[in-house]
Amino acid sequence: MACLQGMQLQLQSIIMMLVLVVVVVIFSLSAATKAAPPTEADLKNHDCMNRCGNLSISYPFGVKENCYLSEEFFINCRDSQPYLQHGKVHVTNILLEEGELGIMNYISHYDGNSTQLDFPSSLNLSKFSISTTKNKFTVIGCDSYGYLDIPIDSDWVAVGCVSRCRSIDYVHNGTCSGIGCCQTSIPERVSQINITAYSFFDRGNVSDFNPCSYAFVVEEAAFNFSTTYLQNFTEDMVPLVLDWGISDNETCDEAKRNLTSYACGDHSDCYSAKIGHGYLCKCSKGYEGNAYLSDGCKDIDECADPNLNHCVEESKCLNKPGDYTCSCPNRYHGDGTTDGTRCTTGGVIVPQIVIGVAIGALTVLVSSSWLYWIFNKRKHMKLKEKFFKQNGGLMLKQQLSRLERPTREVIKIFTLEELKQATNNYDDNRIVGRGGFGTVYKGILVDNTTVAIKKSQIMNQSQIEQFINEVVVLSQINHRNVVKLLGCCLETQVPLLVYEFITNGTLFEHIHNRIKASNMSWENRLRIAAETAGVLSYLHSAASVPIIHRDVKSTNILLDDNYIAKVSDFGASRLVPQDQDQLATVVQGTLGYLDPEYMLTNQLTEKSDVYSFGVVLVELITGKKVLSFDKPEKERSLARYFLSCMKNDRLFQVIDEQIEIEGIVEELTEVANIAKRCLIVKGEERPTMKEVAMELEGLINKKMKKHPWVKIDLNGEESEHLLGGKLSGFELECTTSSSNTTTTGYDSVRERMMLPMDGGR
Ligand SMILES: *[C@@H]1O[C@H](CO)[C@@H](O)[C@H](O)[C@H]1NC(C)=O
Ligand SMILES: *[C@@H]1O[C@H](CO)[C@@H](O)[C@H](O)[C@H]1NC(C)=O
Ligand SMILES: *[C@@H]1O[C@H](CO)[C@@H](O)[C@H](O)[C@H]1NC(C)=O
Ligand SMILES: *[C@@H]1O[C@H](CO)[C@@H](O)[C@H](O)[C@H]1NC(C)=O
Ligand SMILES: *[C@@H]1O[C@H](CO)[C@@H](O)[C@H](O)[C@H]1NC(C)=O
Ligand SMILES: *[C@@H]1O[C@H](CO)[C@@H](O)[C@H](O)[C@H]1NC(C)=O
Ligand SMILES: *[C@@H]1O[C@H](CO)[C@@H](O)[C@H](O)[C@H]1NC(C)=O
Ligand SMILES: *[C@@H]1O[C@H](CO)[C@@H](O)[C@H](O)[C@H]1NC(C)=O
Ligand SMILES: *[C@@H]1O[C@H](CO)[C@@H](O)[C@H](O)[C@H]1NC(C)=O
Ligand SMILES: *[C@@H]1O[C@H](CO)[C@@H](O)[C@H](O)[C@H]1NC(C)=O
Repeated sequence: MACLQGMQLQLQSIIMMLVLVVVVVIFSLSAATKAAPPTEADLKNHDCMNRCGNLSISYPFGVKENCYLSEEFFINCRDSQPYLQHGKVHVTNILLEEGELGIMNYISHYDGNSTQLDFPSSLNLSKFSISTTKNKFTVIGCDSYGYLDIPIDSDWVAVGCVSRCRSIDYVHNGTCSGIGCCQTSIPERVSQINITAYSFFDRGNVSDFNPCSYAFVVEEAAFNFSTTYLQNFTEDMVPLVLDWGISDNETCDEAKRNLTSYACGDHSDCYSAKIGHGYLCKCSKGYEGNAYLSDGCKDIDECADPNLNHCVEESKCLNKPGDYTCSCPNRYHGDGTTDGTRCTTGGVIVPQIVIGVAIGALTVLVSSSWLYWIFNKRKHMKLKEKFFKQNGGLMLKQQLSRLERPTREVIKIFTLEELKQATNNYDDNRIVGRGGFGTVYKGILVDNTTVAIKKSQIMNQSQIEQFINEVVVLSQINHRNVVKLLGCCLETQVPLLVYEFITNGTLFEHIHNRIKASNMSWENRLRIAAETAGVLSYLHSAASVPIIHRDVKSTNILLDDNYIAKVSDFGASRLVPQDQDQLATVVQGTLGYLDPEYMLTNQLTEKSDVYSFGVVLVELITGKKVLSFDKPEKERSLARYFLSCMKNDRLFQVIDEQIEIEGIVEELTEVANIAKRCLIVKGEERPTMKEVAMELEGLINKKMKKHPWVKIDLNGEESEHLLGGKLSGFELECTTSSSNTTTTGYDSVRERMMLPMDGGR
């Protein structure tokens, strides 16, 4: 008995709690909807008038505080006349569905007396814009022109038209084709204009029939030109149409995310406004009313008006929220609509059986495909989890949590869905590059940032730990000339990396595309070289664990809009454990840039990057591709060709024609010498990246200090070469003596290198 009572007590308290929960939920729901659009009752409570003179005013517009959505929708009602913007602009019409507003605007006129020119008509509307589809800029006169000054960015641009005629006999009613009247369109999204009317000859020879020039913006449909306007245009103001929208900087999707500020009421849809950004609300199909009020959209009773429903006469029309149904009377069948199967008698049984069987079959089909879908989805999720583990997701999470700094902001783990959406499901149109280590897509994240997303090639299990280390280390590199890693996604079989998006393409394009190359000044080339050297030097020494890039080449150096270098693609890079300064690895890299010593020994050192950088320097100086298979055997490798030219003191034969040599001979020679040292076959003898970076920096500093009027004394030999190079171009043989002058080791290494790698990349 006691037990039973205890249970009853428990039951009671549970019921009490449930009631409490329901109350709280209802309360919080009503609190949440509080900030949403006002209801009709709210407006009534605030005593909002819905008229001003003859103009009916509906929310979001209003004439009193608490009656409009925001300041720009305030209508100032003075003497029963509605004005916008505190009494300057006269409002004639408000169209909610179209997002339009009719106003009256002054015309500008000029009567041939230039002292009276300062009567332009101007309009400054901030949140509204002048409809480009509904209005036309119009000038009336026979010796006239008018223009519209429009601020674009911080500048003013002018749009206008010219109207001339010798006599009124040439002018026709109803047309504005430039004879007596001209019209032109208004640019999009303009909210501020100054209008000026003017005359060519101060009305000298037309004054007897056209004493004045007029210019104005007018609603096209409301204006019909008449020849009498030339003599006497009596209007002071003309109608024009404005566009408006809610929130001038949010799209529908953005607005819907914040339901407290979203302005559309129940049963309404959101449309983008004509002012560019911003949106409009319209009642959904089957509803009508003011979509800017919570309860503004009312159900249309389609059954009350035979024009609104398609029910046949004998069927019964039943109104439903947003819709209606037609039903045939007993013993009739059909859907009861005029455009459907109407209502007919007879032949009832067979269709019913058919329908029954069809419904049965459909049920089986739907449920089985649903089961299949569920099964697939689970399999898919399992797979995603597996990939996450396989790609070292757990390891990465661990590593990240071990770091002292909260790196979660520095590197983000993206989900597969996020990246799929960002790249439009890996659309081919989004591919911005393909490399040996993967495909790069341009992606746009939900917050509208543009990123580069790299899909790596299939990874070997043993490389995963290394990969994770790299992601962690790269996420910590914060160098202005390194492409920033924003995050990664590990839910796919191959990891996806997300980088900042660099806008201006690769250095390769800027060197080898003739049009782009003409913009690559020597200063830019030198600076890019110094920046790249700086990054490599930083990776080799400054970063906490030395990193060897392993794939330095002009396609891996990206440029932003200011031609600032951004080194990318660390797909091949290796971290060098502190206790080792050499690392045996599988030879990787790009033919033409590959360090010949590394090719032979498989011993990876920082000096391999130095060699590749040397090749990039040569590319910058010469503008030639690193490998040219269409050239004679001796000229195929740019590095080798360059060295032989240096050896023969013929550097100036191979300088890129785009480089203006005058005044920089000394610098060019120095950079060429740096390149030459970087390309020494024995790695040990090459300079370090730090030395190279410092030398290039030094050159730039010296250049900046140098006075522009100091003449550079070209020595005779060099200027001769310069001329020879310019005249006969690059074909002049400087390779003839190469085989007996280049470092002995080089050729043999090269020969061996060319053999196995010919088919390589
Ligand atoms: C309202 O409209 C009527 C008729 O169109 C007109 O006579 C009257 O002057 C208007 N009132 C105002 C305040 O504009
Ligand atoms: C131009 O306007 C000024 C001031 O209104 C007036 O004094 C002058 O006489 C006018 N000139 C002509 C040619 O109409
Ligand atoms: C136009 O209006 C905006 C906002 O009301 C104001 O900031 C701007 O200075 C105005 N421009 C001119 C030329 O009056
Ligand atoms: C144009 O229409 C006006 C009346 O609206 C009339 O007085 C004038 O003669 C017409 N002009 C021509 C060229 O037909
Ligand atoms: C403009 O006026 C002329 C007569 O003046 C008439 O024939 C023509 O239909 C009118 N056009 C419009 C669009 O009202
Ligand atoms: C346009 O009008 C505004 C205000 O009247 C003025 O500040 C501005 O300088 C004018 N711009 C031009 C190009 O005349
Ligand atoms: C109008 O007058 C100007 C000088 O006042 C003259 O140069 C021009 O030729 C005249 N135009 C016509 C069409 O007569
Ligand atoms: C212009 O028209 C108005 C009314 O339409 C009239 O009162 C005035 O006298 C006219 N002026 C001329 C110069 O025709
Ligand atoms: C839109 O503009 C408002 C102020 O005008 C600002 O508070 C808001 O952050 C802006 N929103 C976006 C998405 O730019
Ligand atoms: C949503 O809009 C309201 C009102 O404008 C604002 O106070 C609130 O901060 C916004 N919330 C978010 C998450 O942007």
